[in-house]
Amino acid sequence: MKDSVILGTMAPPSLASLAGDDAGIGRLRSSTCHGPPLDGAPVSAAVRVHGIIPPLDLARLPKATPALDFISIDSEHGATNSTLDDLYGSSSMNQRDPYRDVERADAYSKVGIINSYYLAYRDLPQIFSTYGVTGAALDFGCGTGRSTRFLREHGFSTVGVDIAEEMIVKAIEADPHGDYRTIDECDLGAFPNGSFDLVLSSMPFDSIPTKEEKVRTLREISRVLKHGGTKILIAASPEFYLHEWVSWSTKSFPENRIARSGDVVRVVIKDLGDDRVVEDYLWTDESYRETFAETPLRLVETRRPLAQPEDPYQCEWLNETAVAPFSIYVLKKAQ
Ligand SMILES: C[S@@+](CC[C@H](N)C(=O)[O-])C[C@H]1O[C@@H](n2cnc3c(N)ncnc32)[C@H](O)[C@@H]1O
Repeated sequence: MKDSVILGTMAPPSLASLAGDDAGIGRLRSSTCHGPPLDGAPVSAAVRVHGIIPPLDLARLPKATPALDFISIDSEHGATNSTLDDLYGSSSMNQRDPYRDVERADAYSKVGIINSYYLAYRDLPQIFSTYGVTGAALDFGCGTGRSTRFLREHGFSTVGVDIAEEMIVKAIEADPHGDYRTIDECDLGAFPNGSFDLVLSSMPFDSIPTKEEKVRTLREISRVLKHGGTKILIAASPEFYLHEWVSWSTKSFPENRIARSGDVVRVVIKDLGDDRVVEDYLWTDESYRETFAETPLRLVETRRPLAQPEDPYQCEWLNETAVAPFSIYVLKKAQ
């Protein structure tokens, strides 16, 4: 068996039969194979799941194939990556940062702390009060400034930084008197040691691929924190990529189910009116703990906020009442 890729929408039963070993090798029962082969490539009964599986754009598949549970293309028979590119084209935002995009930034700037995003922010005031966090805050990965403005509304003086200039342009447009800056990855050189009481990062770590980069970034964040300062890191939970939510959809990406820490996972943000696929990197709780252990920051609390009936904000929740879409890590720099 040569390298093969799986394309397409695999129903959960097919995925169950893919339960493979640690090397990501899955064995599919041939009974789970349906439909004609693609481009003359044989449908295989055993597949090696490798690399990034591009998200499927069903509309671009040959007419005969939409009923397929999956298609496995054996590379020995001439199905090439260019075949995949032809199929997938530009439906995916497979760039280093999906937010370096004018349309995406424009759409993002119009979305407030609504729908499932409410759960990323709901508990923050309580965390500020529990740990006595006040003063100067850096919003690392501020995007179009939604999280920065939230901090300011809660009494902090704020600076927002982001690697995506497109997002920063929109943040300044919405808040011309705010301090927003474009930075290079991991580079907080504009700020002296110990500048901030709090560094918040609401969701940028989902786009940082490797442990090395996460560690480097957290060390730089720690440098600009005061001794005794607080780091709050809000990240998509691993379950985020497996369910349907008010604000996001993952049902077109069954391959998320077999992703391991560091693998690309895909999601569509429903609130934006921009249904291009966002590619994140899965990072499990265990991986986060290992990452934090290599920095001067000590984990003091982890929260996984669920929507509650007593919440002042309500909407027609999907999985938000049973599964937490976010993990909130509270870390401290030693005194
Ligand atoms: C999902 S958005 C969230 C924006 C904002 N924090 C909010 O809650 O609305 C994630 C942001 O993180 C930024 N980002 C990703 N990697 C980054 C990095 N290494 N350094 C700084 N910002 C980063 C992206 O450009 C994007 O604007």
